[in-house]
Amino acid sequence: MNIVDIIIKKRNKKELNEEEIKYFIKGYCNEEIKDYQASSFLMACFINGLNDDETYYLTKAIIESGETLNLEDIDGITVDKHSTGGVGDKTSLVLVPLLASLDVKVLKMSGRGLGHTGGTIDKLDSIPEFKTELKKEQFLKQVNEIGCCLVSQSKEIALADKKLYALRDVTGTIDNISLIASSIMSKKIALNTDIICLDVKVGNGAFFKDLKTAIKASELMIKIGNRFNKKVSAVISSMDQPLGNAIGNSLEVNEAIDTLRGNGPKDLEETCIELAYQILKQTNKYDIKNLKEIIKTNLHNNKAYNKFIELVEHQNGKLPLPINKNLIKTNITSNTEGYIYQINTYELGKALVELGGGRKYKEQEINYDVGMIVKLKINDYVKKGDTILEVYSTSPLSKDFKNNLLSLFTIKNTKNHKLKNIYKVL
Ligand code: URA
Repeated sequence: MNIVDIIIKKRNKKELNEEEIKYFIKGYCNEEIKDYQASSFLMACFINGLNDDETYYLTKAIIESGETLNLEDIDGITVDKHSTGGVGDKTSLVLVPLLASLDVKVLKMSGRGLGHTGGTIDKLDSIPEFKTELKKEQFLKQVNEIGCCLVSQSKEIALADKKLYALRDVTGTIDNISLIASSIMSKKIALNTDIICLDVKVGNGAFFKDLKTAIKASELMIKIGNRFNKKVSAVISSMDQPLGNAIGNSLEVNEAIDTLRGNGPKDLEETCIELAYQILKQTNKYDIKNLKEIIKTNLHNNKAYNKFIELVEHQNGKLPLPINKNLIKTNITSNTEGYIYQINTYELGKALVELGGGRKYKEQEINYDVGMIVKLKINDYVKKGDTILEVYSTSPLSKDFKNNLLSLFTIKNTKNHKLKNIYKVL
């Protein structure tokens, strides 16, 4: 077999077989296939697409490039969730302890920010001394002891994904359904939990821009999961505006804590309850008639919050977060009146990167304290002079930057009737 022939075959829109896909993944991992060939292969896949079988073979080959966890020693039903990524998405910080407080074992490996989207590991890194890297044995022990663990993606799991993900990030090949599905599902299946729930984001701040594509991607990931005998569900939720109000690592940790204490933004609470519901429903442990109420109760009686504190303590973190007195607060105020009709969420995510809260290149050190609080969201009424956005930065903002931020909020004299928080559950 020869990589050039495989690239040409995909370039010519032919279907690849399992052996060819396996050959590519193996060769790329052991560096016989070079980055420039892998880039060309990825672009051919991106442009011409992969069918369901090819996507399944790609997922399988990525899984086989690393280790699959043996969870036999975990006592209880094991669960996992994954978000396709967004702006202000701090769901994992709430959902992991919430689920653990409801008697399931939550194994969660997360990533860092990618492009304009934030990552759970960066958020956790804003907690002083919090350990996000644990050995496999420690990870499993903690899950047995307290019911949950939240760590960075293990180097041993889905080895090929790490290399491919980094390459896709710099070759314009991220937002393809099959490449995203195989990347996500390989990590989920190799982690080997009984139940997987996908939080599929749709909208201008997500990788999937429209509902049709988000549904197609969700169905594909569910199909892949089922071929590996996994129970998979998907919640399609909005990323047409940031989730909650906070954008930026430590601001988001504080908002997650507020949510765990029953004082969180409504959309964030609703998303977490829906995801927890979809997962717990599949365990058959609860009467589904009262299940949403049971879940909500744990967000309001400190049970989920106490579990979060236990999780942070087990991973050596120190709370509360320190207050950074050097931050400059700037209010972005409206120069007109009406309803917030649209928010350019993608550009808000990029603005965080500009403030230093996300990365422009892989090795960049980020500032955990900078960020933004969205004071008014879609369909809120705004008067001239009202603050729409609070910005926390390390240096004064330029006039252009402030004007640009204001331009990300479209104000009209009618409400946006198309908006929903949760679009569909599959
Ligand atoms: N999240 C992933 O894990 N992989 C992708 O390709 C995109 C989002």
